[in-house]
Amino acid sequence: MATDLETQAWEALKGVKFPGMSRDIVSFGFVSRIKACAGQVAVDLQMATHNPAAAEKVKEAAEQALRALPDVEEVRVNINVTRPATREEAAQKAISQDSTLIPDVRHVVAVASGKGGVGKSTVAANLAVKLGQLGYKVGILDADIYGPSVPTMFGITDKPRVDGNRIIPFEKYGIKVMSLGFILETDTPVIWRGPMVMRAIEQMLGDVEWGELDYMILDLPPGTGDAQLTVTQKVPLAGAVIVTTPQDVALIDARKGLAMFKKVNVPVIGIIENMSSFVCPHCGEVTDIFKRGGGERTAEILQTAYLGAIPLDPEIVLGGDAGVPIVVAKPDGPHAEAFRKVGEAVVDEVAHQSEMKPKLSIV
Ligand SMILES: Nc1ncnc2c1ncn2[C@@H]1O[C@H](COP(=O)(O)OP(=O)(O)OP(=O)(O)O)[C@@H](O)[C@H]1O
Ligand SMILES: [Mg+2]
Repeated sequence: MATDLETQAWEALKGVKFPGMSRDIVSFGFVSRIKACAGQVAVDLQMATHNPAAAEKVKEAAEQALRALPDVEEVRVNINVTRPATREEAAQKAISQDSTLIPDVRHVVAVASGKGGVGKSTVAANLAVKLGQLGYKVGILDADIYGPSVPTMFGITDKPRVDGNRIIPFEKYGIKVMSLGFILETDTPVIWRGPMVMRAIEQMLGDVEWGELDYMILDLPPGTGDAQLTVTQKVPLAGAVIVTTPQDVALIDARKGLAMFKKVNVPVIGIIENMSSFVCPHCGEVTDIFKRGGGERTAEILQTAYLGAIPLDPEIVLGGDAGVPIVVAKPDGPHAEAFRKVGEAVVDEVAHQSEMKPKLSIV
C-alpha cells in the first residue's frame, strides 16, 4: 500500500515537465519507483534520451518539487539515463518481444490520437470487426487505462474466464476481445494506474490466450502519455494509425501523436479522418460539415498516408452504446463501406511498410 507521502510524491512529480515538452515526467513513464517513509523520499527515474543535460534538469526539478512537500526531510533522486534505441535496435527488440509475449500475432496496429474524444475506440472496434469480416484473424486489445470503452462497445459485462494461468479472451463478432476494463477495478485511482499499466499490459499480452492472429488492434488512451509509451516499449507494433477529426485545429493534435511515435521509432501507418461528412439518415445525402479534405491535407503535411474517412452519423453512437458496432448493425451501410476502405488501406500500408523492413515480417 502506498503511504500518504508516496501519494503526495507522485502528485508532486506530476508538476515536473521534461524540458521542451508539455507532458510531465509521470505521464511519460519516467518515474519507475517511489519509496517514502518518515520524512525520507527516494525516487528512481529511468529515461531514454539523447540529452543528458535535460535529464539532469529533470532530476533537479524533481528534487525541488519533493523538497517542497510538507514534512519532507531528506530527498534522494536516482536517475538512470539510457540512449534511445535506434530504428534497427527497435526492430531487433520487436523481434525478440514478438517471440516471447505474443509469438503468434503477425501485426499489431495501435489506434491513437493526439487528443481525446475523436472516436479512437469507435474506429478501433469497427476496424477490428471489419478486418475480421474481410477474412483475417483479428483481436482487439483495449489498453485505455483511463476509460476503457471496448467492454461497452462490444456489450460485454462479464469477467474473462481463466484456464489454469491463461486468460481466455472473449470472442464476439468474429474477433477476440480483451480490455483492461475487465481486470481494472473501476475505483482504482488513476494515479496508481500509471505505475500498474506496464504490468497490466504485459499480462494482457503474455497471459491472454490470443492464439494465432493476423492483426491485433490496440485501442490506446487519448494523448501522448505514459500508457502510450509503455505500449510502444512493450508491444512490437507494426505501426500506429492516428485518428483525427476534420477541423483545422485537429492538425496540431494529430501532429503531437505523430511526433510521439516518431520519437519512439514506431512507424505511423497513416491518418483516419473520423466524423467527416454527415450522411442524412433520411435521404442519404452527404454534407461536409467541416471543410472538405482536412484529413487528406493533414496526412500530406505530416507526410503520412491518408487511410480514409468515416462519416459522422448518430447511428454510430447508438451502435457503440448498445454494444453492436455499426459494421455489424448495418453491414451494408455507408459506414461499413467506409470501414472496409479504411481496413483495406491499413492492410496495404502494413504490408508495404513491412516490405520496407523485411527484418520485421515474421511469419
Ligand atoms: N463517426 C462518428 N459519428 C458519430 N459519432 C461518433 C463517431 N465516432 C465516434 N462517435 C461518438 O463520439 C464519442 C467518442 O467516441 P470514442 O469513445 O470512440 O472516442 P475516443 O477517441 O476513443 O475517446 P477517448 O479519448 O475518451 O478514449 C462516442 O459517443 C462515439 O459514439
Ligand atoms: Mg477511447
